Amino acid sequence: MGEHKRIGILTSGGDCSGLNAVIRAVVHCAVNTYGWEVLGIRQATLGLMARPPQATTLEIDQVDSLLTAGGTMLGTTNKGDPFAFPMADGSLCDRSAEIIAGYHELNLDALIGIGGDGSLAILRRLAQQGGINLVGIPKTIDNDIGVTEHAIGFDTAVNIATEALDRLHFTAASHSRVMILEVMGRDAGHIAIAAGIAGGADVILIPEIPYTIDHICYKIKERQETGKNYCLIIVSEAVRTHDGEIVTMTNRLGQSRYGGIGEYLADQIIQRVGVETRVTVLGHIQRGGTASPLDRLVATAFGVAAVNLIAEGKYDRMVTWQNRQVLSVPITEAIAQYSAVDPNGTLVKTARGMGIYLGD
Ligand code: F6P
Repeated sequence: MGEHKRIGILTSGGDCSGLNAVIRAVVHCAVNTYGWEVLGIRQATLGLMARPPQATTLEIDQVDSLLTAGGTMLGTTNKGDPFAFPMADGSLCDRSAEIIAGYHELNLDALIGIGGDGSLAILRRLAQQGGINLVGIPKTIDNDIGVTEHAIGFDTAVNIATEALDRLHFTAASHSRVMILEVMGRDAGHIAIAAGIAGGADVILIPEIPYTIDHICYKIKERQETGKNYCLIIVSEAVRTHDGEIVTMTNRLGQSRYGGIGEYLADQIIQRVGVETRVTVLGHIQRGGTASPLDRLVATAFGVAAVNLIAEGKYDRMVTWQNRQVLSVPITEAIAQYSAVDPNGTLVKTARGMGIYLGD
């Protein structure tokens, strides 16, 4: 069984479906296979920053029912870079030493960090600075982490967006409307292109291919001329024009974020084509609820593989899904390789081959 270990696990960055399935797999493998202790750290690095550090021992009983539970039982945060942490007085403070001290105070032998590229970059910096034995597990609905075909959460988001298109299809046809579905993904159009093809969209707009509003309107008119009385459009939140123009929303506090492109396009279409147009913004529904079978499978395989890496003493690595296998790569390699939709890749070619309009 090897030497006894006490390992920590945390979830960092935006949540998604499948995180609890990873936690469950890690606890099962660490406890049952190796006889180790697993500490669940609360609220990502905030739990290590707190005094006493916020962590509890996770028993099999606690995680057994988690396979289908959405969110993360540990909590998470996507704010507060520990190297420039926002303080109450408005200043920014480097609090990395407190987090590192928290790890050592808990007497951890290793830490499993589940995160996207931003979180993994921060965790790695902390690990290098503070002698933390880190293993990374990729998660993000955006699926933009290089070197892994799957990040946890992506498949569920695609399922949800596809189901939304399936539902919109019928109401669009019944009312002879243009229906726009706005999806997340930040600067990567993976959700839009995958769900768009699977859900039979007529137009797919992704950040990797600049769009022209005139051409979208032309496509709608062309469909009308051939007797198709409706049009289904799926648009990624961060699409841009050839001039690089994006649409963002600013709240009453002056904070901006992606959002609003669906309504913007609807206004343009109504003005130029005169056809009734409605918008659905999927938002955080894409991140919530029960994970798809594929996400649960990948989450479970990643959890087991991460524990096995620790058993082998292999740190500073991230588990990956490549060619139907779980492998691992140095975290630096994963972070360095941002993965956008390839404008000449299979999915774009498939969409074009199906006569789906991509905005260019
Ligand atoms: O990175 C995941 C993601 O869901 C993006 O697709 C989206 O733009 C963003 O997070 C939303 O962040 P928040 O939860 O802070 O609104």
